[in-house]
Amino acid sequence: MNKILLVLIVMFGLWQCNSNTKTDSKSKAKQLLSQMTLEEKAGQMTQLTIEMISQFKDETIVEPHALDTAKLRNVIVNLGVGSILNVGGHTYTLSHWTEIQNAIHAYEKESRLQVPVLYGIDAIHGANYTVGSTLYPQQLALAASFNTDMAYQMANMVASDVRASGIPWNFSPVLDVGRNPKWPRFWETFGEDPYLVSQMGVAMVNGYQAPVGDNRAGVAACLKHYVGYSNPVNGHDRTPAYIPEKQLREIYLLPFAKAIQAGAKTIMINSSEVNGEPVHASTFLLKTILRDELHFEGITVTDWEDIKNLCDRHKVAATYKEAVALAINAGIDLAMVPLDLDFTKYLIENVKEGKIKEQRIDEAVLRILALKEELGLFEPSANKMGSYVAPGSEESKRLSYELATQSIVLLQNKQQALPLAETEKILVTGPNANYINALNGGWTHTWQGRDTNYNSKVATVYQALKMRSVEGMVKYLGGNTYTEHLAKQDLLSAANGINTVVLCLGEDTYTEKPGDIDDLDLSSAQQELIKIYKEAGKKVIVVLLEGRPRTFATTASLCDAIVFAGLPGDNGGMALADLLKGSINFSAKLPFTFPRLPGIHKTYDCKYTETLNNDFKPLGFTPLFEFGSGISYTQFTYLGIELMSKEAKTTDSVEVKVKLENSGDREGTEIVLLYSSDMYASITPSIKRLRAFKRVVLKPKEIQEVHFKLAVSELAFVGLNNQFIVEPGKFIFSTTSVQDTLNITP
Ligand code: BGC
Repeated sequence: MNKILLVLIVMFGLWQCNSNTKTDSKSKAKQLLSQMTLEEKAGQMTQLTIEMISQFKDETIVEPHALDTAKLRNVIVNLGVGSILNVGGHTYTLSHWTEIQNAIHAYEKESRLQVPVLYGIDAIHGANYTVGSTLYPQQLALAASFNTDMAYQMANMVASDVRASGIPWNFSPVLDVGRNPKWPRFWETFGEDPYLVSQMGVAMVNGYQAPVGDNRAGVAACLKHYVGYSNPVNGHDRTPAYIPEKQLREIYLLPFAKAIQAGAKTIMINSSEVNGEPVHASTFLLKTILRDELHFEGITVTDWEDIKNLCDRHKVAATYKEAVALAINAGIDLAMVPLDLDFTKYLIENVKEGKIKEQRIDEAVLRILALKEELGLFEPSANKMGSYVAPGSEESKRLSYELATQSIVLLQNKQQALPLAETEKILVTGPNANYINALNGGWTHTWQGRDTNYNSKVATVYQALKMRSVEGMVKYLGGNTYTEHLAKQDLLSAANGINTVVLCLGEDTYTEKPGDIDDLDLSSAQQELIKIYKEAGKKVIVVLLEGRPRTFATTASLCDAIVFAGLPGDNGGMALADLLKGSINFSAKLPFTFPRLPGIHKTYDCKYTETLNNDFKPLGFTPLFEFGSGISYTQFTYLGIELMSKEAKTTDSVEVKVKLENSGDREGTEIVLLYSSDMYASITPSIKRLRAFKRVVLKPKEIQEVHFKLAVSELAFVGLNNQFIVEPGKFIFSTTSVQDTLNITP
């Protein structure tokens, strides 16, 4: 029987979201704007890096860091620069942050209109540029917890820590959808599923922007990087992506739409190009979609140097000055210049020459001033940094540990290789065994997170295992690197009398361009370690500390246990030790699909045709580990799934009950993932799509019923006309091993 096609264009709430900048918060902003000269307005639209106000000697930033008061005066008083960002090289103490902010505020007072500077920073997994602050799991690890409540709590604590250093704006969260594991910022995402990314993203935005401390304003969140950054064709950072509008809307725009609806105040633009158009020059993406459809009213900020890049790298403007007109006319409000004073000059010239209308400038400046007002920057109390809880509180450490325990995924555990017994002697080795940076990744104390001078005083995996074991039971072997391992005889003699080897493998830290790779395979030296110890008859436990799934098809099957630890943060070492020793249980699930081979990657929501074998017979979906994989020290048996009504209209909601039992013998947390599969549709449907999830704790032998309610409109997809639609027909709802059918009628 032919299916009746589309009947309803779903007025997705997300496309109709409310304004996110309250009109009444603009009174001061409007009044200020009316007094501003063109030069002052251009200053407001300029963001410079801290280097531009810092002391340099022989072209190197002075250490210890010190401000250059002459530059500061020029930037704040003469040029009226509206925003400053970043840190000069590495993390600062809280007192140095206080000095910096106080100095900036002092110069603000000397400027004609005394407009406060909006300082922004990348505090993406804790106040990672403040000495002593607690560092949490990076986003990809966080997503493995599927715990939106704790993501909210973490973000709120980070907001307080960032505010304590006088900074009201955080360039986080990343809402790019991680669908290309080669991309060096994969670990900065919440993984491959747009629904999960949206849920975690909204939680983080709410946590950042909720009040902190004694009911003071949190920080403004900044959604990154709008839009289409995360799936470049060749996997390299800041290289072209080709994304059909349909996919752009259904996958990549969705998390931004949800976060805007939640009230996100700012958005950072993708440095790269989508379908041949640099996003910084795209009126379609910056205006038609962002403003007219998503009704975003906050500020758009460029990424690093990206207006200049329109001519220097993208070659869509002949000169820097033309690039300024292109970007501002397309809809940029604030330029992260951040290393020259030419942007401001060119902006003024463009307006005087009629290439940019002053109305466009007023629109941008009003948004910037309104944000400053909303963040309370005009109030004298904004500068009282001392009244926040100092970063690094015991409470934040507990939260970071708890989150780490929930974000480390157990993927393989042959013959109960784990947990490690109290009486089991172990050898810990591999390049990440005794290396704190490997727990934290990039954006940790420094941009690349590689400098060991600034490490927090926390335990590495080896140190944590030692602390949690009886004296003499844990041995460490150093010297194995990412690209070279010790001689075979040294590797084996270190394991003399020891049956269990914990191999901490993976990657060194990176972000952006320096993290580009051409081959997803885990280095051969590291895979050799697995082979050598396995051939010697050892029990091999592999712990992967890495920002993306590095493939190891032939050696994965040799491992007795595989743990994907991702980048679990400062307390990841202790969390790992407790999980490996079994004093706590694993609960996390993979927020991405771990490919089997480097040359082929499919996401869990691939199409039916992608699952066919050479002989055209269905092969199924065969990655190494699928999205949602994750086991624990207990077992869960799914007893059934039931839809409360078998038929629903496109405007209805449906209720689903899932029954499961903890059939093992220890308490555990199960993340129930509810999927839907559209049996046929006008656009080829995915095998399945995640629609909801819930974490449930079950005692041994306990049975629980988990309830979900979702609107049928959430089953919408983007149709041929590029709008969200729900088509009537048969949908299967499923979770691990059970399914039920829903018939949707017009
Ligand atoms: C990154 C952004 C970051 C900005 C400011 C850029 O290079 O792409 O994610 O927020 O720098 O540090």
